[in-house]
Amino acid sequence: MAGRLFVSQHTREAKVYVSRLLPEGAMQLLAKATEISEVRVNPRDRPATRRELREGIEWCDCLLCLLTDRIDAEAMDWGPNLRMIANYAVGYNNIDVEAATLRGIPVTNTPGVLTETAADLAWALIMACSRRVVESDTFLREGKFKGWGPLMYLGHDVHGKTLGIIGFGRIGYAVARRARGFDMRILYNGPRRADERLEKSVGAEYVDRKTLLKQADFVSLHPYLSPESTHLIGERELNHMKCTAYLINTSRGPVVDEQALVKALREGRIAGAGLDVFEDEPRTASGLTKCQNAVLLPHIASATVETRTAMGVLAASNIIDLLRGTRPRTVVNPEVLD
Ligand code: DGY
Repeated sequence: MAGRLFVSQHTREAKVYVSRLLPEGAMQLLAKATEISEVRVNPRDRPATRRELREGIEWCDCLLCLLTDRIDAEAMDWGPNLRMIANYAVGYNNIDVEAATLRGIPVTNTPGVLTETAADLAWALIMACSRRVVESDTFLREGKFKGWGPLMYLGHDVHGKTLGIIGFGRIGYAVARRARGFDMRILYNGPRRADERLEKSVGAEYVDRKTLLKQADFVSLHPYLSPESTHLIGERELNHMKCTAYLINTSRGPVVDEQALVKALREGRIAGAGLDVFEDEPRTASGLTKCQNAVLLPHIASATVETRTAMGVLAASNIIDLLRGTRPRTVVNPEVLD
């Protein structure tokens, strides 16, 4: 089956379904492409329901979807003409890539364009947690600020501390680069050791996970979600961490056992957590929103005008490339095109 749907000649009249409105730049690109006859967009400002998704997939040739859309084998089989799935995210755990490969359907993602923006947000969480930015903002807004206090909202320093990065891919590395400006010691762990030059460029040291958890003042998570990385951080790992350390997660929610984290936060076994992602989004584990020592964000790591536009343009370009018979730039299952 592999390669069945890769067309090397120009394809006219392709229909594209976009499961939620994207920034202007991406929509314009799709609208102007001569290879595309019609673009349909879910007009509602919420994820498409399973039924809406089905209608879109039944109708289209190419699907531009989001990380909130579950594109499993069943969904792929709704589309008699489905020849491409372009994901508007770098992570693609919402797509059954194996099923797509079996059906000869290329899947693309949006790596690279969001690296720096996501790293910025990991740092926003590091700073917000350690300097209690959200708590003290709320305190002031509630009219409780009666003047400067020597013991008011004491946090922990960031500069000169140890940063532990789990998952030293593009984003993990970009987080490490920023840490140099804070004179931090950088430890990292991942499935394999990085190139020595890369390590040296940021002064990062490869250590086993337990050592990292025991020594880091900030543990920042950046693995891809896989069966191996699911609940990578659970009760045991949280117990390895210092009681003055912070856990930062901008990767995928299921990497952390959220219920175990709530327990650790409540019991003060770690100092705090900064989370942009949750195990069962948009829900959060029971008790998490009551933890004052957690900063919780609604999955906004890539949410800047520049980056969301770049992600949309990349996803749209991937579709247009395929329709033109050119290899899309970021295919996660390239074997279907060979
Ligand atoms: C991604 O691209 O995987 C991000 O989570 C989207 O913000």
